[in-house]
Amino acid sequence: MKTKKFYIETYGCQMNEADSELVAGFLLKKSYQPTNSPEDADIILVNTCSVRENAERRAIARLSQFKNLKKVNPDLLIGILGCVAQRDKEEILRKNPFIDIALGPDSYRKLPEAIDSISLPLTGFQLSRKEVYDGLSPFRSSRVNAWISIMRGCDKFCAYCIVPFTRGRERSRSLSSIVEEVKQAVADGYSEVTLLGQNVNSYVYEAFRFPDLLEAVSAVAGLKRIRYTSPHPQDFDDRLLEVMRDHPNICRHIHLPLQAGSTRVLELMKRNYDQARYLSVVENIRRHMPDCAITTDIIVGFPQETEADFLETLRVMDAVIFDAAYNFKYSPRPGTLAARMIDDVTPEEKSDRLDRVIEKQKRHMLLRNRALVGTIQELLVDSVSRKNPNEKTGRTGTNKIVIIQKGNPEISDVVRVRIEKAIGISLFGTLV
Ligand code: 5AD
Ligand code: SF4
Repeated sequence: MKTKKFYIETYGCQMNEADSELVAGFLLKKSYQPTNSPEDADIILVNTCSVRENAERRAIARLSQFKNLKKVNPDLLIGILGCVAQRDKEEILRKNPFIDIALGPDSYRKLPEAIDSISLPLTGFQLSRKEVYDGLSPFRSSRVNAWISIMRGCDKFCAYCIVPFTRGRERSRSLSSIVEEVKQAVADGYSEVTLLGQNVNSYVYEAFRFPDLLEAVSAVAGLKRIRYTSPHPQDFDDRLLEVMRDHPNICRHIHLPLQAGSTRVLELMKRNYDQARYLSVVENIRRHMPDCAITTDIIVGFPQETEADFLETLRVMDAVIFDAAYNFKYSPRPGTLAARMIDDVTPEEKSDRLDRVIEKQKRHMLLRNRALVGTIQELLVDSVSRKNPNEKTGRTGTNKIVIIQKGNPEISDVVRVRIEKAIGISLFGTLV
């Protein structure tokens, strides 16, 4: 019998990347083999994101493209996974009858159960208070970094955010099962793990909080680098910073979503911190670890954001000088609190503010990068350069990508490079 093949395409956050690896692990166990080409696949899965409208649209458009492959292979199964499936539920099948499988983030165990005797369509949209996908064998797509999901869901209910509706209530995995998975990843040759959660500093399992978990993971023998994402500024405490400071294998990088600089907008967003609190967390980070990189997420054009409010976002950017920022135009998500607010910011204003944030961030990134020119940095080599297949790229502990122009190390090597130049948003280095 011909072996069956699966193809998975993933959109959205790193949690989705991790979920796709879980699903791939399920399929592998059922003797399916991975393929990089949808044309060869017997099952195509698209793991979707609904955090903004255009992410949602892109995923649906992609699924429609795959529909044509059914003409060539009538047995092909097409499935939608993730947040869009969860949000749309049966609706998505009604609108797109070519879809055979639709599973939300807590229903992936249904896939291997049903795949032998699939009666179509296969659906699952039940959100769980318990499911953490413990003790499974993900099929990892990177050879360098292992995603480790430490918790699922979110209870914060920020006014703009769809996640609590698509990923359900917050729940944490046991410390022991996380540490076991990390040990297994190291045994499988991984140098780096990234602990994932929508709000990692809400992690709680029995008496263990996030700093305890970080400490336990950092003690795993042979693990070179630990990353985590994302913490919430409200719950950020000194204990976490002390653990980071005292354990050199925890990377000097914190992704600390700002969302907006104006205290009034932060209140409208239901973020539970104000500008002063955010800046004091940044100051605290720098006091504990002066060399720690700080990156962020920014939303512009939230309903009722005035020009004066927006200037506060620019003000915080100037005060912090982020190493990197992901900047977004506010996108209303049906069912959220913000979607019911009157949005008096015009599309032109939103676009203009986005341009100004991007412009400022570009300058800040160059400033931060230039400060590294002439220094020696330790890199974990993780990719072949997209522009030049003869060059490798690696990341610093502070999560900066460096293109290695002289010297040709192997993927997953840890090497030392001299940073030679910073151009645009890129860093270039030579092996020492
Ligand atoms: N519109 C725009 N950006 C959003 N984000 C979350 N929800 C929305 C929305 N409705 C952004 C936030 C979050 C990142 C993952 O996506 O900045 O931190
Ligand atoms: Fe997108 Fe949020 Fe779902 Fe991740 S959790 S896939 S960012 S909607």
